Amino acid sequence: MNARGELVFDRVGKRFHPTGAPVLRALSLRCRPGEVVVVLGPSGCGKSTLLGLAAGTMAPDEGSVSLDGVPVRAPGPERAVVFQDHGLFPWSTAHENVAIGLRFAGVGKAERDARAEAALETVQLGDAGSKLVHELSGGMRQRVAIARALVLEAPVLLLDEAFSALDARTRRDLHDHLEQAWTRRSQTVLLVTHSLEEAVRLGHRLIVLERNAPGIRKEIILERHAPHFDRHDIGRVRAELEAATRDQDDPDDAGAARLDQPPPRVGARVP
Ligand SMILES: Nc1ncnc2c1ncn2[C@@H]1O[C@H](COP(=O)(O)OP(=O)(O)O)[C@@H](O)[C@H]1O
Ligand SMILES: [Mg+2]
Repeated sequence: MNARGELVFDRVGKRFHPTGAPVLRALSLRCRPGEVVVVLGPSGCGKSTLLGLAAGTMAPDEGSVSLDGVPVRAPGPERAVVFQDHGLFPWSTAHENVAIGLRFAGVGKAERDARAEAALETVQLGDAGSKLVHELSGGMRQRVAIARALVLEAPVLLLDEAFSALDARTRRDLHDHLEQAWTRRSQTVLLVTHSLEEAVRLGHRLIVLERNAPGIRKEIILERHAPHFDRHDIGRVRAELEAATRDQDDPDDAGAARLDQPPPRVGARVP
């Protein structure tokens, strides 16, 4: 697989009801190879829709989504996804769920088994491979879904609230493991979350969507010179985001994406 992982949304529009308001409108976003872009915004603003368009499980009504210049028209092995509802096979084992994508990719059994085991180790489920998914807790299922996406080593990772059911300790451990994994492979990551802490911990760039508003409401670039941001940085980002939300009441501000202006830079720090 030689994909670089440049994921581009070009003036994308998506609506689900012919007469209703579009969920996404005139949305443009370029995720560079190796970049971690975090999508924030209230429930129903279209975050999962954005991921579905990148995954190829839905198609835009307007504009285009492309990967390395090739239009996305269907799901493909170069884009690994953790959907919000997991989509695991409940009557198969954790191991089978993780290995199945490799089977479709034509990987032989010995390699499949080794890679699936390693991916389960990464999500701290090394001893749960033989358990049936329906026997697992919500947090464990979520980790199986993450392992299933990781094992493919795809150039693009699409994660929809992939850590929401995990306890704080497991989440922090996984953040560390995953960041190492995707940095090593230079994966492009598009990550939806409700957690500002997670966004600041993992993101290189945050984008905020707004219900019924075109484009991107707000964009913040996090300059990461240190592996870990601290509380102080989160406080600054929170203030930025709150300021953006206040602007919504401003009648002069139509809420359109203001990508013509450079986004603010937050968290610059001396190495
Ligand atoms: N397959 C679908 N059919 C009809 N409406 C949908 C579908 N998927 C999403 N929607 C609607 O689109 C809007 C945005 O949904 P979604 O992208 O899931 O938001 P978010 O992930 O930000 O909470 C919601 O109003 C939701 O009801
Ligand atoms: Mg969603």
